[in-house]
Amino acid sequence: MTTKSAKVGSWSFERTSIAEEFDAHVRRHLPWYDLLSDKVADIAAGYLPANGALLDCGCSTADLAIRMQDVFKSRDASYVGVDVSEEMVEIATERLDSDEYRINFQLEAVDVFEELSRKPEAYDVIVANLFIMFLPPEDRRFFISKSVSALKRGGILIVVDRIEPEGGYLSSVLSRSTMADKMRAGTPLEEIAAKEVSLIGVQRPTNPNIYSGFKQFFQFGDFVGYVLENNY
Ligand SMILES: C[S@@+](CC[C@H](N)C(=O)[O-])C[C@H]1O[C@@H](n2cnc3c(N)ncnc32)[C@H](O)[C@@H]1O
Repeated sequence: MTTKSAKVGSWSFERTSIAEEFDAHVRRHLPWYDLLSDKVADIAAGYLPANGALLDCGCSTADLAIRMQDVFKSRDASYVGVDVSEEMVEIATERLDSDEYRINFQLEAVDVFEELSRKPEAYDVIVANLFIMFLPPEDRRFFISKSVSALKRGGILIVVDRIEPEGGYLSSVLSRSTMADKMRAGTPLEEIAAKEVSLIGVQRPTNPNIYSGFKQFFQFGDFVGYVLENNY
């Protein structure tokens, strides 16, 4: 991302420059991304049986497929990734098509609701990592209920989302600390500021009330990991 082009609310994943740079970008802005994504992958592995199926919602460059490649191979399980950004799906497809990764996969540039409406009780695991905060707020509860319908019994929905800060002085301290995290990761100050400005009205933290009934497995600042087991 060039900082000069950063404008209020201009952030979009549907740009080749953003998609090509995404893997490096996400690590500059969320320095704990790899640690968290390993946790998501381990939880997913705990619920993905032999011949099972995992849906990755807003898969971007299919990092999760690569992170879990040994699990997919040894269990002959399938990875389905959907992302509305054709640019992201193009990069993900190129990656997973390479001889290096031989997993059963399907990638599609579609809206997540299209995929969720197609197949009831199709998935053992549904992952929404850093995804729901980019959905319109009015669609978020619907996303959860459609995901539950798309899960097999015994399956799991794994969510990592940004939630609304609780307010007060602690929120100011935590938001400054987040800035310090990015600086410690070597992210240029101008890029940090430009990204924040570009996210106005594009990325909106979720009211955590929608996660009542979920179990929490992670929190770092405003970023929270939740799971919902489909036992019923
Ligand atoms: C922050 S990225 C997700 C990162 C990725 N899950 C990971 O683990 O690295 C959010 C992604 O969600 C996608 N997205 C946003 N709204 C979507 C929708 N309605 N349906 C499908 N994908 C969507 C964006 O194109 C973007 O690639």
